[in-house]
Amino acid sequence: MTTADSDLDRRQAAFQRWAPYFLLGLGTLLAAATAGRLIPLSNERQAQALGLVGTALVTQLWWTWSGRVHRGPNAISVTYYILRWAIGFALTILNGFFAFYVVAGYYDADELIPGRKRQRLALFACTLPIAGAQTGGFPLHGMTWVVFGGLVVANNVLLTVVKHFAEQQEARSQARADTITELEQAHKENAALQAQLLVQAREAGISDERRRLAAEIHDTIAQGLTGIIAQLQVVANTSDPKVISERVGQASELARHSLGEARRSVQNLAPAGLSDDGLPEALRKTVRQWSERTGVSAEFTLTGTAQHLHGEFAATLLRITQEALANVAKHAAATRVGVTLSFMDDEVTVDIRDDGKGFDPLAVPARSGTGGFGLDGMRARAERIAGSLTVEAEPGFGTAISAHVPLVLHA
Ligand SMILES: Nc1ncnc2c1ncn2[C@@H]1O[C@H](COP(=O)(O)OP(=O)(O)OP(=O)(O)O)[C@@H](O)[C@H]1O
Ligand SMILES: [Mg+2]
Repeated sequence: MTTADSDLDRRQAAFQRWAPYFLLGLGTLLAAATAGRLIPLSNERQAQALGLVGTALVTQLWWTWSGRVHRGPNAISVTYYILRWAIGFALTILNGFFAFYVVAGYYDADELIPGRKRQRLALFACTLPIAGAQTGGFPLHGMTWVVFGGLVVANNVLLTVVKHFAEQQEARSQARADTITELEQAHKENAALQAQLLVQAREAGISDERRRLAAEIHDTIAQGLTGIIAQLQVVANTSDPKVISERVGQASELARHSLGEARRSVQNLAPAGLSDDGLPEALRKTVRQWSERTGVSAEFTLTGTAQHLHGEFAATLLRITQEALANVAKHAAATRVGVTLSFMDDEVTVDIRDDGKGFDPLAVPARSGTGGFGLDGMRARAERIAGSLTVEAEPGFGTAISAHVPLVLHA
């Protein structure tokens, strides 16, 4: 409820409390002023009127006191209403001006009488003394009964029309208040939703960044260390000084390279292979170096017309190829590897095929502390730029990994 509403309610309550006093006073004043002149009044009837005004006053004072305690509609408020109506009616019979006092019943029937039908009946009861006064006063006789009947109907029609408009107005105000409440509610819900979305977006951002960092660490440091361990294992198992110096040289070259890549990824730079060359050249070098290091024969093929790819897209394809080759060295025991880069109308693909052991892609062991991040990382990298990764492998029949990304050119 607004301040304006409560202000209006307070004024209405004050009006209902003091209106009967005012109307009784007005009726009494007019009756006293006209007594004996407009209406011949016997001393006895004057005394009766005085007694009734006194009773009305006492009734009003009682109600003013008790009405605050017993808020209607209840038995006490109905008693008060009937009592006031009866006194008003009796006074109106003595002098028509007292009908003013009965008018009070028009204002507070809704508050004091329970139920719409009973309220209607109460209003009808009030129209009786009022129509009587309008007819010229009680007692009625002959034709005045007909006039009285007509006035009762006229008063009730008037009341019905006024009440109808008041109710319509009330319904409109209520609808407005409901709309405001709904809007306030919607606003609150919206604010809560926005806060939730913000949290979700932040969490999504955090998890996205975590995946990106994990992939970077895997593809730079972890991959490098795996290669270094492989070289050192060869060194540990040979006494040939030529092989030892060659492998140690490769191990330190790998360490240097991985360190450089890790530094570049911390600075969010493209892989070193791409800093001087385009993707085809970078892949050609990667394949050649990998083949030299592992002793496995590997061939690079380019199909389609090479284009200058957007840095992020080129980096993704290079990283995926590096991990696929690292997996061949680590798991496949292959004799031949083929890497194909294909530029098509709207996408670029890289295929890495080996003739090694193969594996069952559906039975890949769950990620553990010692590995299992490579394939997931490749897929995550491809999906980050709206691409995809497919793995075709079968135990005994080699492995084929292909990465597809949209063709997005360097700006
Ligand atoms: N070319 C391949 N030939 C044979 N098996 C492979 C090949 N590539 C992947 N796999 C199998 O798939 C598994 C998952 O590869 P993935 O790269 O996800 O993990 P990982 O290489 O074992 O560990 P990480 O890459 O995290 O160091 C490997 O353990 C291996 O069994
Ligand atoms: Mg791997």
